[in-house]
Amino acid sequence: MQQHRYPFPMPFGWFSVGYVEDFPAGSARATYYFDRHLVAWRDDAGEMHVQDAFCPHLGAHLGHGGTVEGCELRCPFHGWKFDAEGTNTDIPYSDRVNRKAQLRTYPVAERNGFVLVWYHPDEKPPSWDVDEVQDLHTGEFSGPIRTHHVVNAGVQEMGENAADSAHFRYVHNTETVPEIEHYELDGHRSIMKSRQRFPTPRGVVDGRIDTLADGPGVSIVRFSGIVDTLLVTSSTPIDPETTETRFDFYVRDLGDEATNSSVGLAFAQEVDRQFAEDTPIWEHKAHLVRPALADTDGPFMKFRKWYSQFYAEPVSDDRLVYPPPFWPDKVDDAPAKATASAKYGGSE
Ligand code: FES
Ligand SMILES: [Fe+2]
Repeated sequence: MQQHRYPFPMPFGWFSVGYVEDFPAGSARATYYFDRHLVAWRDDAGEMHVQDAFCPHLGAHLGHGGTVEGCELRCPFHGWKFDAEGTNTDIPYSDRVNRKAQLRTYPVAERNGFVLVWYHPDEKPPSWDVDEVQDLHTGEFSGPIRTHHVVNAGVQEMGENAADSAHFRYVHNTETVPEIEHYELDGHRSIMKSRQRFPTPRGVVDGRIDTLADGPGVSIVRFSGIVDTLLVTSSTPIDPETTETRFDFYVRDLGDEATNSSVGLAFAQEVDRQFAEDTPIWEHKAHLVRPALADTDGPFMKFRKWYSQFYAEPVSDDRLVYPPPFWPDKVDDAPAKATASAKYGGSE
């Protein structure tokens, strides 16, 4: 039997399913998150909706050919219509609607340029709201520069990276590691304040990295020191073993657009470089229920305890070690490559 990769079920919370402009008014599209097929559509009045994808009549995918009509969505298969609550409002070849035909509908909010969906396995209503970052509306920041990644690792596992100060030196080759000064867990929020010294040709610059996690799916990271950068990130489970991360970088206005975009781009590339360095670690690591920690390690267990509040379903306790599957195509060492090229007749 294929064992599950992590002990964790799907967390609940607000998660990004894309950017505001990914969903023009009057259009519907298919998407997949939380291990579910979804239809995301914006009605003609500009309101955004996310619902389960399969029409309760005979199972057509409403994101593949479904059409928006006013504030309703029409199924491509037999023309049934559903409203923003997921209620069947019309069967074109019948005088009566089917009251039992109901689409599961997710609460939606648009914040900081993202379309956020509230996912809860038991369909409980949102237990917090995600704040709009006010600094983005003052005109002091320019951006965003956007990057995005899909990783074969669970969303909690990747979140642990923030608590891991020691890995910076080894994975990212930084000369100094962030020094966590303050770590505060406040309900669905976590606040981490850290200091980092950045070596520059003109000497060491004192910098800060301050992170606010607004639940498991959205974080705001403020970098200061060399340049002031604001990073809005989202992490969304595609399934329990696959995560999509979006980064929006904003730099504090440096006077002209060209400087802003080159500084922003350099910063985004550095964060992306670090993300690419973390990826093979995340993809190939085991999740250890009881890691052997050094007393100077970051606050891993506090992070895990905080994160556990986002699980409505039981966390499995059948093992202490959760290894990844074996991915032959991800074995990236020289002998494996030589074997593959010999086998397929390539020359290297
Ligand atoms: S499957 Fe949607 S109307 Fe028949
Ligand atoms: Fe990292």
